[in-house]
Amino acid sequence: MKIIEGSMSLIEPDSYFSIKFENDKFIFIDQTKLPLNEVYVETDDYERIAEAIERLEVRGAPAIGISAAYGLALSLKNLSTVNPAERFSLAYKRLEKTRPTAVNLFYALQEMKKVFQSHIGSQNLYQVVLSKAKEIHQNDINFCDRIGENGSKLFLKKSNVLTHCNTGKFATGGDGTAFNVIKKAFEIGLVNFVYADETRPLLQGSRLTAFELEKNGIPFAIQTDSMAAVLMQQGKVDLVITGADRIALNGDSANKIGTYNLAVLCNYHNIPFYIAAPTTTIDRTIPTGADIQIEFRNKTEIINFNGLPVTRTSYETFSPAFDVTPSHLISGIITEETVHLFPYNFL
Ligand code: MRU
Repeated sequence: MKIIEGSMSLIEPDSYFSIKFENDKFIFIDQTKLPLNEVYVETDDYERIAEAIERLEVRGAPAIGISAAYGLALSLKNLSTVNPAERFSLAYKRLEKTRPTAVNLFYALQEMKKVFQSHIGSQNLYQVVLSKAKEIHQNDINFCDRIGENGSKLFLKKSNVLTHCNTGKFATGGDGTAFNVIKKAFEIGLVNFVYADETRPLLQGSRLTAFELEKNGIPFAIQTDSMAAVLMQQGKVDLVITGADRIALNGDSANKIGTYNLAVLCNYHNIPFYIAAPTTTIDRTIPTGADIQIEFRNKTEIINFNGLPVTRTSYETFSPAFDVTPSHLISGIITEETVHLFPYNFL
């Protein structure tokens, strides 16, 4: 594994990427170090990819799925002495245990398994399976573009937008979901200002979304999550857009903890609340959000700040990584297909 610190020579000074597959290696930016350090990690080891997903070095529902797909492909790279079925099954089991909520992970793993099973005797099994991972990645790039186009049509005037967590390049294979809606609307002159929620406890908003807004020249401020209400009360927010990790058939949507708060606040203040996500985030096996497994995070993420304890380590914590917003609070779900409106039925 090679670690390239700072702006590596392969990267233009002002550009960045989150995940990439090149020369039989998976390369990702370690998101836990952003925005202070841009560190890219290169690996061909599925175990390293699994660790990256668990540690949130790679995160965001679509990016998790794509990374796992590349991990599965890499598990078949050097097959001279091992049984491919055994190797694939080990990698599959490891990757599926990394994070439970984003359905994109399971969707990507299952798609990979279908291709693996139908080509198991093939001479170039690695290449075939790798092409599937690349296809999943390319599809997500296309989905992001279409989500951006579809969502930007919802802007009827130059607007102030509030968003939560990170849904841009870092979270996807392409230019993002909710983030790309904001970006496309900005490009056609319909975004005045963005309020980015800090997104406690891991600060995806103040670290990652702020970085992406800055790179795209979009005017913004970051605020702690509890400041959203007063922004709305003061008339400073025209609409809220977030992403999703799993959407049930009835439109109930799991997303980063704090999203539900925003939906309730929007309802109270009569502000539109949108979710933007590819259809790969829809779980067609679950009727409602009650069936979504919510990941709980380690207590150190609440007790510590910047690696140091800020309160007594003996204290109990409550640390769900996601919440579920009931569909009736969602004004529209923007996918690559269209903007779906309440009542939702994704059957
Ligand atoms: O815990 P994270 O950072 O992986 O959570 C990510 C989110 O909640 C995103 O909003 C979601 O995955 C959509 S990303 C396009």
